[in-house]
Amino acid sequence: MNYFIFTYGCQMNIHESEKIAGILENMGCISCQEFENADILVYNTCCIRETAEQKIFGHLGLAKKLKEKRRNLITIVCGCMSQQDGMSEHLRRKFPFVDIVLGTSNLNLLESAVNTVLNERKRVVDTEEFSAADSLPVLRTSFPNAWVNIIYGCNNFCTYCIVPHVRGRERSRSMESIVEEVESLLQDGYKEITLLGQNVNSYGHDRDDGSDFSKLLDILGNLPYKYRLRFMTSHPKDLNEDVINAIACHANICNNIHLPVQSGSNRILKAMNRRYTREHYLQLIDKIRDRLPDVGITTDIMVGFPGETDEDFADTVELVKRVRYSSAFCFVYSRRKGTPAYSMENQISKEVKKSRITQLLQVQNEITKEISYGMHGNIYEILVEDKNAKFKNTYCGRTESGRLVNFKCDVNPIGNFVKVKICDSRSATLWGELITEE
Ligand code: 5AD
Ligand code: SF4
Repeated sequence: MNYFIFTYGCQMNIHESEKIAGILENMGCISCQEFENADILVYNTCCIRETAEQKIFGHLGLAKKLKEKRRNLITIVCGCMSQQDGMSEHLRRKFPFVDIVLGTSNLNLLESAVNTVLNERKRVVDTEEFSAADSLPVLRTSFPNAWVNIIYGCNNFCTYCIVPHVRGRERSRSMESIVEEVESLLQDGYKEITLLGQNVNSYGHDRDDGSDFSKLLDILGNLPYKYRLRFMTSHPKDLNEDVINAIACHANICNNIHLPVQSGSNRILKAMNRRYTREHYLQLIDKIRDRLPDVGITTDIMVGFPGETDEDFADTVELVKRVRYSSAFCFVYSRRKGTPAYSMENQISKEVKKSRITQLLQVQNEITKEISYGMHGNIYEILVEDKNAKFKNTYCGRTESGRLVNFKCDVNPIGNFVKVKICDSRSATLWGELITEE
């Protein structure tokens, strides 16, 4: 049977789709390029913002049409959206052609669910369990990078966020199993490992065996391979000096930290339950820059949280100008049912949200442009990760600080570390010339 996976959302989901593909391939299924040719259609969903959900509901219509032509098509909805309160019932009523609904943590049931549909033509819905998906087969698709989960779930309950509700409480994997997975990936030739978790800094806190994030970084930093180690996402209330030291002490741990600030206003941070102040955040940035002068810091920012005034927004803009992020993911607050912010007063109008996001993007674009310009003439080592889809003989790779650089090369250098001299830039896009070593 042919399968096709629609993946929505974050890196966690991208990696989960690699596990879904691994399970299906183990069952003898084959991936297909066009969803129209699929016998199994998987929707690995996201529900962090309403826009993601709307897109998925739209795309589910494609499965309905396809099922009219291919009666035996198996349609599977899994991931965050399916774990939302009342969603499996909603899918049952409005999308009766969906055969399997699985939650965020029970991919281990995927094989038996497919078999049940095949053999009994019976619907399978299971969103109950929160377990870890450690021992599942994985079909990796992001060479030379490999994603490695270290912690599942989140305990933070930021008041706007649906994630703790759909991914459950924090569950850390054992250090041994993580180190084993990373070593085997390095033996297989992967050149970059990205550790994943909603809050990697709280890794190990739920275990009583002494596991801890900076310890894990130390062990992985000492592995005798030429490779790069990255991690995401860090929480500003938990990122500590031990972690900063680990980055400083190990050449292979990248000078690159994703540190979502969400807002620059103390009042809004409090209402968001972020549990740090703007002052704490700025001090943390100073500490990081002190120890890691070439660090690339990126962030997530939200505008239009309930009650956000012009002054609050001005605080955010001011913080962004002060920190000078190399890039920022800027979002418009989206009301999520089941979260405390959903029922807060003073929801912000669409118009105000739009005007704020436009201003914020302009400010950040200008900063990114200036940082890019400041890189002209410098030489960086990059790990080549992909072909540039638009230009012939053009590849792209990342600097240690996380900036993407395009460059021309006659032979395929994907998976190699090469040196490039930055010669041009357009906002976030950098262009370099390959430096050939004598
Ligand atoms: N609305 C808009 N953005 C959100 N995020 C999380 N929840 C919401 C929401 N309800 C953003 C945060 C988080 C990123 C992954 O998504 O900025 O860091
Ligand atoms: Fe959501 Fe906050 Fe947890 Fe991040 S830390 S996943 S924003 S609740």
